[in-house]
Amino acid sequence: MSSLSAPVKPPGDIHRAWWKESSVYQIWPASFKDSNDDGIGDIPGIISKLDYIRDLGVDIVWLCPSYKSPQVDMGYDIADYYSIADEYGTVADVEKLIKGCHDRGMKLLMDLVVNHTSDQHEWFKKSRSSKASEFRDWYVWKPPRIDENGNRQPPNNWVSHFQGSAWEYDEPTGEYYLHLYAVEQPDLNWENPAVRKAVHDIVRFWLDKGANGFRMDVINFISKDQAFPDAPVQDKDTPWQWGDKYYANGPRLHEYLQGIGNILKEYDTFSVGEMPFVKDTAEVLKAVRHDRNEINMIFNFEHVDIDHGPHGNKFKPGSWKLTELKSFFERWQAFMYNNGGWNALYWENHDQPRSIDRYVNAPQALRSEAGKMLATVLALHAGSPFIYQGQEIGMGNVPIEWGMEEYKDIDCLNHWNLLLKSSDSGPEAQKAARQEYQKKSRDNARTPVQWSAEPNGGFTGPSIKPWMSVNPEYTKVNAADQVKDPNSLYHYWASVLKLRKAYLDIFVYGNYELVDRNNQHVYAYTRAYSDSKALVLANWTDYELSWDAAAQKVNKVKEVLLDTYESTSMVQGRFSGAQWTLRPFEAAVVLLE
Ligand code: GLC
Ligand code: CA
Repeated sequence: MSSLSAPVKPPGDIHRAWWKESSVYQIWPASFKDSNDDGIGDIPGIISKLDYIRDLGVDIVWLCPSYKSPQVDMGYDIADYYSIADEYGTVADVEKLIKGCHDRGMKLLMDLVVNHTSDQHEWFKKSRSSKASEFRDWYVWKPPRIDENGNRQPPNNWVSHFQGSAWEYDEPTGEYYLHLYAVEQPDLNWENPAVRKAVHDIVRFWLDKGANGFRMDVINFISKDQAFPDAPVQDKDTPWQWGDKYYANGPRLHEYLQGIGNILKEYDTFSVGEMPFVKDTAEVLKAVRHDRNEINMIFNFEHVDIDHGPHGNKFKPGSWKLTELKSFFERWQAFMYNNGGWNALYWENHDQPRSIDRYVNAPQALRSEAGKMLATVLALHAGSPFIYQGQEIGMGNVPIEWGMEEYKDIDCLNHWNLLLKSSDSGPEAQKAARQEYQKKSRDNARTPVQWSAEPNGGFTGPSIKPWMSVNPEYTKVNAADQVKDPNSLYHYWASVLKLRKAYLDIFVYGNYELVDRNNQHVYAYTRAYSDSKALVLANWTDYELSWDAAAQKVNKVKEVLLDTYESTSMVQGRFSGAQWTLRPFEAAVVLLE
């Protein structure tokens, strides 16, 4: 871990790239916008909202998997990489979407899910049909292990990310296959060159259609230790243990990534890799350093795992402090900056609860302020900011009153069903689990986008039952109201992204330094480039507080660039003297002398 906390060097030879300067808007199609009143979001619905997205000032639209899929894991189980799910539209619709983005000066990023496929993919159907199939070796098959009582056991003790064993026994051929995620998501065998070739063909197919790159799903899992050893026992309460040591950033990862990277380079496109469990920083660097030709940036997980319970168990309560969150950011900022890598900055995505309910505890009246504070802090870090649909209007988690029938996510439902079967499934245990779901289930991010105060939040027709209920907050939190209101969170996001572009050297290419490290109430950092320096300052509490700017040697203000409470013309001169007053959740950006 040592290099993660290395001291920050002054800017040397800075590598500039369009994708570093860009920001991204993520779309999760099922819940974005329904155009044909079947209760499910679709690609024509996305096309109808492209102006709304452009007006936010983002450069890239990331489309989550829209390919043909049985939707066991909402499209992350792909049955055909060359066609689009009927409920979302057609390949021609995606071509229109690409053109719609390009016409507005934006790019389109597709999702590449190639650690696994759906069990309904032709490759897997053939693979499971017989040991002699030419597709057998496209997946990871192993004979059972026989225990001391003569019983059949999985080949090793790895736990699936969606609960239970990561291996599934397949009766017809008497072997187990590996599935790091759902039983219906068998892992591809990347050792097989035919698999790699098939992935390269898919990449070229979509790039030839005009896509501008890929977000790569759990991409650091594609190379596994071929001995498939048992994982060390960390959690004694279950037989199934985290095997990440043997499959995260595995032995041949860089070779595989370069195979894709070479193609992306030909097309001047880019990629962002999802990388859970990154621990070995030298390995990370090999994947993201700009001269490596592997991937351009990664999503790390430290700050989103911050509230998980023991053993990485996300549905157990966990507590955290602001100083911890700041230290995660500081390490990644310095690490990437010093070593030629690049951060993908995010609070939210389709796998995470809503940031406004996770990172702050804002009373109703201050939710917009809290959202603005989070926007400021995130987007002015060094990296490319990612905004997840609904985050720009401050959508919240599902209501605590919602019953289990409202929850749809396989991860959450698997957890619930295992709990009901377990010895500890009494009312207390159920209540505790449901409280954690409302805090951390992926369902929180998956309610339909609240477009207006009309029935169903304008997501679908007023009398239609959407595939997932709309969060009842839509009457108060919706896009239509915010587009009309110049002081809304939506417009504030636009001003943050605009500021980032206006001071590109500072906010994209500048050096980051954490200020007032031990403060549990304030997050402050500077960004500096050559002679220019800006301070980003945020009150993380719901009360007014006083901050000693002089003690931190950042009290000589040249100009206020942005403030979450007032327009900059109103606020000039507000930050002067030694002690500054910060209103509840106030964030400000100032240029220092
Ligand atoms: C990634 C995706 C998540 C999916 C999983 C399996 O973490 O973001 O939604 O369930 O991979 O593909
Ligand atoms: Ca639809």
